Parts: sequence; structure tokens; C-alpha cells
Amino acid sequence: MPTLSLFDAHRMTRPLPEQTRGIASRLQSQGLATIEGLTTRTAVLAFAQRVMRLAAHRDSDSDELTTIRDIGHRSLQPGLGGLGNGELLTHTERSSEPSPPRLMLLVCHRPATTGGDVILTDGQAIHGYLAKHFPAALEAFALPNTAFYGDGGGHPSQVFTRHPGQRASIRLRQDSLAAFSPLVRGYLPQLRQAIDAVQVRLTLEAGQGYLIDNSRWLHARAAFTGNRVCLRALGTPRFPMPTGFPHAAPNQVDAPAAVGGDAP
Ligand SMILES: [Fe+2]
Repeated sequence: MPTLSLFDAHRMTRPLPEQTRGIASRLQSQGLATIEGLTTRTAVLAFAQRVMRLAAHRDSDSDELTTIRDIGHRSLQPGLGGLGNGELLTHTERSSEPSPPRLMLLVCHRPATTGGDVILTDGQAIHGYLAKHFPAALEAFALPNTAFYGDGGGHPSQVFTRHPGQRASIRLRQDSLAAFSPLVRGYLPQLRQAIDAVQVRLTLEAGQGYLIDNSRWLHARAAFTGNRVCLRALGTPRFPMPTGFPHAAPNQVDAPAAVGGDAP
């Protein structure tokens, strides 16, 4: 699994206000930017406010940032695993809401003693892997209303939502608040194989973080020990973001090369 190369490839060192445009273009093209130098809560908040209109959520503090730390046994309740120290399986943030936040920023404030790595997975890469290796699974995961995320107040969905113009978005959770239709349940091992094949792992130091398009990139966390603290912001981008991510049409995947004839 790649490690720091992903961070380096997307890195924005000490993001200044005039670099917001560069971050926007990374989000638009790749759905991901990595950041460092955000060593204080004030710096995290200022950066977040430059790139998004923050949305308050169940766990956020009065400044609309959320402090992600181990809160002990209360984190064992369904849907609160992020506030514990256990492994968090690959998921979309706020997958149970009708409209999950488009952007998510997570910055490491204090690293764990051991573990706590971030694991990111590009939905576009999952889509491409399934198209190549398990096309029937891909089509099943795009069937409407084949997943339900959340409790009784949750949201019916599907893993992949297709949009006009050869675009798609991904929405997934894999904890006790996820339920899948029999139409897709048998394909979950292939989906997990795809995730394992394309995911990347980041070890964040204090002040380092990532900004993702939550409709394209899934995130996860390894179990950890120690007093790990991260700051998270969720919100709507302050720049245009076309719906979803581009994907190849099913009949464009691994199409055989044209033979003979018409090439100039
Ligand atoms: Fe999360």
C-alpha cells in the first residue's frame, strides 16, 4: 500500500490565501489535497473557512470544527465509532444524511502513540477496478435503493450513483448502520477487494491533514493507542464542484484496440 507518496503528490505547504485557487483545482480534478502547517485550531479554522462554508453537525463544537478524540465507552454506540480508538472501516462521512457534506477536512492535532493511520480510497479508482475485474458487481452497486445507511431515520441509497455526462459518486458505510439489498450483498467481497487494491495509507504528523471530496473519496482509520486528537471540518465548497467524478463508460473499459481500416 503506498504511504507518503500520496501525501507528497497532493501536498500544499503552509497554504496561503492566494493558494486557495490551487487547492480548488486539485479538488476539482483529483478530489483530494493534502495540507501541512496547520498547527493550531485557529489556523485549521481559518483554512477551512477559506475553502468551504462550514456546516455544524451533531458532534461539532461552537466554532463548527469537530474535535475527534477517544471519548471512551460512549463511542461504542452505533454511529459514534469515530470518537473511539478502534478501527474505522472505509466510509463516506455522514452517509446517512440525505445530502452528505461535499468537503471534509481532517487535520492531525496530536498523533497517536501507535497506529491511527488514515486510509483513503478514491471512489473513481474503485469504480475503475470493478469495471475491469467485476463488471457485474459494478452494475449491481449502481442499482437504485440497494443500500440503506443509518437507523430508522437513515437514508436509502446505493454505493454508486450515476449522473449525466459519464459521472458518478460513491456513498458507503460498512458498520452496523449499513444494510444492503440481496441484489448486491453477494458482491460485497468484490467491493472490499477493490477497496483493498486501491486504498492508500497516510501517517499524519501534527499540523498535517487532508481535504477530500466526500462524494468521491472514502476514508478510514486504523485502531490506535494514546491521546490522538484530530480536528475536522465539514462543509460546502466555496468554488464550483461538478457533481461526482468522471468515469469511463462500461463499454469503454478495456475495449479491444481497433483493428485495421479507418485510422489516418
Ligand atoms: Fe468519518
